[in-house]
Amino acid sequence: MAYFEEESYTDIKFNWQTWKQIFAYLKPLKKYLFIGFFSVLMLAAVDVAYPLINRYAIDRIIGENDLSLLPRFIIMYLIYVIVLASMVFTFIRVAGHIQNQLAYTIRKKAFEKLQALPFSYYDRTPIGWIMARMTSDSRNLSDILSWGLIDLSWGFLMMIGITVAMFVINVKLALITLSVLPVLIYVSIFFRKRILKAYREIRKQNSKITGAFNEGITGAKTTKTLVLEDSNFQDFDRLTSNMRRHSIRAAVFAGLYFPTILFIASIATGLVFYYGGIDVSNTVISIGVLYVFISYVGQFFEPVMQLANILARFQQAQASAERVLSLINQEPDIKDRPEVLAQYGTMTAPKKENWEPLYGDVSFKQVGFKYHKGEQVLKTFSLDIKRGESVALVGHTGAGKSTIVNLICRFYEPTEGEILLDGRPMNDRSIGWLHDKLGYVLQSPHLFSGTIMENIRYGRLDATDEEVIASAKMVEADRFIESFEAGYKTEVGEGGSRLSVGQKQLISFARALLADPKILILDEATSSVDTQTEKSIQHAIETVMAGRTSFVIAHRLSTIVNADRILVLQHGEIIESGNHESLIAAKGHYYKLYTNQFQDLA
Ligand SMILES: Nc1ncnc2c1ncn2[C@@H]1O[C@H](COP(=O)(O)OP(=O)(O)OP(=O)(O)O)[C@@H](O)[C@H]1O
Ligand SMILES: [Mg+2]
Repeated sequence: MAYFEEESYTDIKFNWQTWKQIFAYLKPLKKYLFIGFFSVLMLAAVDVAYPLINRYAIDRIIGENDLSLLPRFIIMYLIYVIVLASMVFTFIRVAGHIQNQLAYTIRKKAFEKLQALPFSYYDRTPIGWIMARMTSDSRNLSDILSWGLIDLSWGFLMMIGITVAMFVINVKLALITLSVLPVLIYVSIFFRKRILKAYREIRKQNSKITGAFNEGITGAKTTKTLVLEDSNFQDFDRLTSNMRRHSIRAAVFAGLYFPTILFIASIATGLVFYYGGIDVSNTVISIGVLYVFISYVGQFFEPVMQLANILARFQQAQASAERVLSLINQEPDIKDRPEVLAQYGTMTAPKKENWEPLYGDVSFKQVGFKYHKGEQVLKTFSLDIKRGESVALVGHTGAGKSTIVNLICRFYEPTEGEILLDGRPMNDRSIGWLHDKLGYVLQSPHLFSGTIMENIRYGRLDATDEEVIASAKMVEADRFIESFEAGYKTEVGEGGSRLSVGQKQLISFARALLADPKILILDEATSSVDTQTEKSIQHAIETVMAGRTSFVIAHRLSTIVNADRILVLQHGEIIESGNHESLIAAKGHYYKLYTNQFQDLA
């Protein structure tokens, strides 16, 4: 689990590999980076030029009382204002564009990866961690690589420009001004280190708080039923007071830092005034020159403060980059071989013209399986199912029913042995091909926010409204749908929250029917529904199962009784198999299960 911890991402050392990959995302934006750089170059130039224009006014217009030069001064000043305004406008536009594009690229890459990653990734990755990568980290990065980069180059260029200008005008005063620089750098590093450390603590606390938030919100209903509000609040309170302590520490250091820098800058100003003043009274230099140096001192120390700040932000951004890239670079542990991809195409660019049909024979050959964490669930598991056969899986909780169907869906892959489809190893064909031909109705069916019509249509995106309605009718979902005021246009709410479990199940049956899969997998809902819905579901199950290979994790007696083959599972092994009559006649495990569990339901 180490990679969810803040500490495992570097905060100090420069990580060239990481930045190389991030900068590659900036490549398509080269043009904008160039325009941005040009605009800050111009800005730095006018920043350096501005005191020089004023010096001209002070020495020539005021000093020599030559008003005829005034129009020339006004023109120079106008040019200064126009260049300043247009360049500021340009860099704001450019930085905004770079920021948006980069955030878009990073999120798109991460999202594509999330689509490609198999179930096992989600088993071990907290959703909150993924959300943080998609939101704050990608924002951080795009922010620093647009505004941060532009600020950084502006600051650098201005410091270089001012240093050169100072030495050209007066070496002695230039040296005096720069004499405080070492102190400044030392103080900056001193404070930065401490501020960074405090911020790192804050971030650590923050991710803990976000986690607690996440739990608190997603588990709100459970909290309320178990009356855990108070203990939850106490946990939360402890976390937030820790956060508060570290925040205050950071604020104190940040608060001390800026006045200290200002103090040092004032000393520099004082020194310039003192030595410059003496030179002015001895008419070694003009008042204009003294003015230029006073201005430069102010201008010089501002970017120094900013640079320290930006460099610190780059360090933080590096941690963000490492985390985002750990997601983007995550290798899915279930993926198609290159030659399979070449023939069948990728998820996003499938080559459907090469896809052969699936007929629905399924064989497990000596399959062994264990989850990422946990013990061996299946050992030398073998099974042969002919096309069109309906199979009911029964057994106690944890027996391995869901595991078997997860393997058929290739949500996980066997750790030993192999699974054949129509006699060919499963991984000879692409995951995209498989999922196109396979339907899975989950125990707790998931709907996407949108209308009922849209939700059924996810089964086959090119289905017409008539086809959608026809499949709803076949599973008898039309009864409750038409009782809604908006009918098929009814919004189901986030995750289908506005519908009952039975209704959601019927909609996912309609969806599966529309998709017309060759292999159908059904994790039957155990939830009790009203008798009408119960009947509809029963009817729907028979309808969707007809004419295809089907695996049903069955809790309803009627489903089990009608299955061609019943598999009784225990600890990942088939302990009995046969149809209802033969198993009842055998008076074994199934008979016991049946008499204990189903008798009163029948
Ligand atoms: N994602 C997972 N990660 C680790 N172990 C898992 C995971 N899913 C299931 N297991 C373990 O694998 C074993 C088989 O679980 P499985 O979900 O297949 O049981 P099941 O028969 O479907 O049970 P139920 O009737 O409760 O749904 C159990 O011991 C379970 O703890
Ligand atoms: Mg299960």
